[in-house]
Amino acid sequence: MATDVALDIGTSFTRLATAERGIVFDEPTMVAIDTNSGDVVEVGYGALDSVGRTSRHVLVFRPFAQGTTVDFDVTARLIAGLFDRAGVSKLSRARVVMSVPSLATPIERRALRQAAIQAGAREVSLIEAPIAAAIGLGLPVQDPVGSAVTILGAGASEAALISLGGIVTGSGRRQGGNDLDSAVASLLRQRHGVVVSPAVAEMLKCTLASALGRTRDASEVVTARRVDRGDLVEVEVGADLVNAALGDVLMSTLKMVQDCLGDAPPDLSQDVSSGGLTLVGGHALLNDFAELIATGTGVEVHVADQPDLVIIKGLQLCLEEMSALHALFRNADR
Ligand SMILES: Nc1ncnc2c1ncn2[C@@H]1O[C@H](COP(=O)(O)OP(=O)(O)OP(=O)(O)O)[C@@H](O)[C@H]1O
Ligand SMILES: [Mg+2]
Repeated sequence: MATDVALDIGTSFTRLATAERGIVFDEPTMVAIDTNSGDVVEVGYGALDSVGRTSRHVLVFRPFAQGTTVDFDVTARLIAGLFDRAGVSKLSRARVVMSVPSLATPIERRALRQAAIQAGAREVSLIEAPIAAAIGLGLPVQDPVGSAVTILGAGASEAALISLGGIVTGSGRRQGGNDLDSAVASLLRQRHGVVVSPAVAEMLKCTLASALGRTRDASEVVTARRVDRGDLVEVEVGADLVNAALGDVLMSTLKMVQDCLGDAPPDLSQDVSSGGLTLVGGHALLNDFAELIATGTGVEVHVADQPDLVIIKGLQLCLEEMSALHALFRNADR
């Protein structure tokens, strides 16, 4: 019997679920490959931990950026490694449901589909990420009412208004939480002449940032490398620096949501005014982000529970429906 697999590959995290076992993989989108043999050595945290610790011919790759694949071959190997980890054998010729950002180009969609096929999938169905998110949230996706969802990921952001199973208005940006980390790192370099790792910049964002600039007095001491001398120093970073770095990206994200809602037909606008808008994706956890969007749009904004897992849960629900339908076909096929 074919195995059904749901797959949400993101810029920073990858999630895999099966209909029977739920979410079985939720780890960084990283793959360590032996460049001599081409074999996958590790995926996820295993690959992350092996950075700088393995022999010279094992390289660690991040095949996704800005929400889509930037390296077809490595993506295919990553998916094959994920199938292995999830116990999906190549022989089972898995049926795969994958989310894709609505801003992905036809070439990016084809690359994603082909990568899954190269990894051993028999059949690949792509579903627009906002639809998967709305299904994961339990919104009435198929009904003639408007449901508003905004996905805030590490590399991509998109706002969508969904009705009758489709996206009525949508807008997206190839930017997300990672861009805030880079903005924090570059302001630190400019003001203090030091370089910090992406992980440190991300930690500063998660602990100090407020989308409304409310965290002015907080600070963190981090280890950084001085640009001129190359030595390590301790630097105290204040929330004011972090918040100053975030402004441009946050304003552009707010504009994206405003554009999406502004294009909505009046009846659906009315639905959003009464039902509100839900934020999903890990970047939605940024302090006061929901409030910033609520103030800027005049709409009630909720952050989903476990926002980073909403899409994979939606994909898993799609799998369950598909399996049930396939079982009906099998029953009649005697
Ligand atoms: N508490 C938090 N505060 C602020 N940001 C957070 C928090 N927790 C996670 N994030 C950010 O959420 C992002 C990861 O979200 P998510 O897992 O949804 O991204 P992704 O699916 O890998 O990316 P994409 O869908 O854009 O390709 C990272 O930028 C991370 O820094
Ligand atoms: Mg994502």
